[in-house]
Amino acid sequence: MYICLCNGVTDKQIKEAVQSGCTDLSSIKDKMAVGNQCGKCTKNARKVIRQEIEQDANLIAKFS
Ligand code: FES
Repeated sequence: MYICLCNGVTDKQIKEAVQSGCTDLSSIKDKMAVGNQCGKCTKNARKVIRQEIEQDANLIAKFS
């Protein structure tokens, strides 16, 4: 599912970035173009990041 329509970024791409260690929107933005045009996607992008972290016990242990 597309999260950022301006840049064609999907939830899968964001989840992969979280798995590689990007655990906030700022670090995701360093890795890919998301939220840098109209900005309407930032709320949903943060939601995908949060959900991915919450679903992965290894990430919770790693970043808590
Ligand atoms: S939808 Fe992401 S910047 Fe516009």
